[in-house]
Amino acid sequence: MYHFDEIADRVSEKSRKWDRKIIENNFGLVSEDFIPMWIADMDFKMPPELEQAFHAAISRGVLGYTYCYEEFYEAVIKWQSDMHHVTVEKEWVTLSYGTVSTIHYVIQAFCKSGDCVLMNTPVYDPFDSAAEKQEVRRIYNSLKLVEGRYYIDFETLRSQLEKYKPKVYLFCSPHNPSGRIWSLEEMTEVARLCKEHNTILIADEVHGEHIHYGEFHSALKLNEEYENLILVTSPNKGFNLGGLKTSYSIIPNEHIRNRFRKKLEQNSITSPNVFGIIGIITAYKKCRPWLAEVNRYIRGNYEFFQSYIEKNIPKLQVMKMESSYLAWVDIKKTGLTSGEITNLLALKAGVLVENGDHFVKDGEGYIRVNLGTQKYRVLEALKRMEEILNRN
Ligand SMILES: Cc1ncc(COP(=O)(O)O)c(C=O)c1O
Repeated sequence: MYHFDEIADRVSEKSRKWDRKIIENNFGLVSEDFIPMWIADMDFKMPPELEQAFHAAISRGVLGYTYCYEEFYEAVIKWQSDMHHVTVEKEWVTLSYGTVSTIHYVIQAFCKSGDCVLMNTPVYDPFDSAAEKQEVRRIYNSLKLVEGRYYIDFETLRSQLEKYKPKVYLFCSPHNPSGRIWSLEEMTEVARLCKEHNTILIADEVHGEHIHYGEFHSALKLNEEYENLILVTSPNKGFNLGGLKTSYSIIPNEHIRNRFRKKLEQNSITSPNVFGIIGIITAYKKCRPWLAEVNRYIRGNYEFFQSYIEKNIPKLQVMKMESSYLAWVDIKKTGLTSGEITNLLALKAGVLVENGDHFVKDGEGYIRVNLGTQKYRVLEALKRMEEILNRN
């Protein structure tokens, strides 16, 4: 029913992922037939229901100021209930700009200069820069690798919480990079420790809509017992709506919520982008079948990618992509650094991947490959990777 093999015109769209100048700035001079597998942005056309909803807004002919209307809350509450089996109350929900911007506001609201923010590394780099830009100290809890899967080092985590007393723990769930889905036991321990040390737990759940293997648990499942939670999420990854720059938070605790909202008001974030709110409502209310299909397609890409590499490029090892569309690949057997292999693939094969070293700390020895694209591109990239890596 959906045509994920169909090529979307990403160049006219002025996509950052596909823009030649931006690519040259990041990778150098690459061949004309480059395959971009870096930024977390998918190459599929949006669900037809979203296209219709945006057309309908345009055809009304006016784009004046809007407000957070009832349908938005209803859509979020129903989505969270149906997809993640949690009960959300309307007053817990606050619409905001992008998820990353929201993380910035949270840090502004709860930290002052010199305070600490904790995160598990390797991690999505904007977590780190959000803290850095607010001039707070970053404490890194390195994930432990056990038989090819990441685990939280709770012993170190406990001592870091005691020693640094971080105001905020930026918890990526599921984790980026790797796609690791945290178990309810792991999340309970994280929340318990945060409560014990009076640390606010920010759960970034933007990758929670692309679940492939295992069960995803919303942090709201912990809410009754551990109430220091700020959940941030959006349909921006699930439905590829990052360009709408809209997300929302769910904060059950009134005191925390008020403090956060005050910061939004201080930044004049008080009314939504017209298309952003339509995007959330429509994605959540009408596009569930599209999400199921896109997930099936992505899973197919991953399985193909993983088995091709296992058979033909044994120097690489793909971590099981439990969620997301971003494969995390161990490159250590190539004898190259992440930077060297990223350059080699870009400049000699036109395959643009994310350098593992960009993920704050502990990402050296890896690359991240975006599989949210047409299958024929995944195959072409694999052939080029095989050719160049098996030669060296
Ligand atoms: C963990 C995580 N949070 C947030 C984002 C971006 O969210 P937004 O586009 O809503 O700022 C990404 C994008 O890759 C991500 O991986």
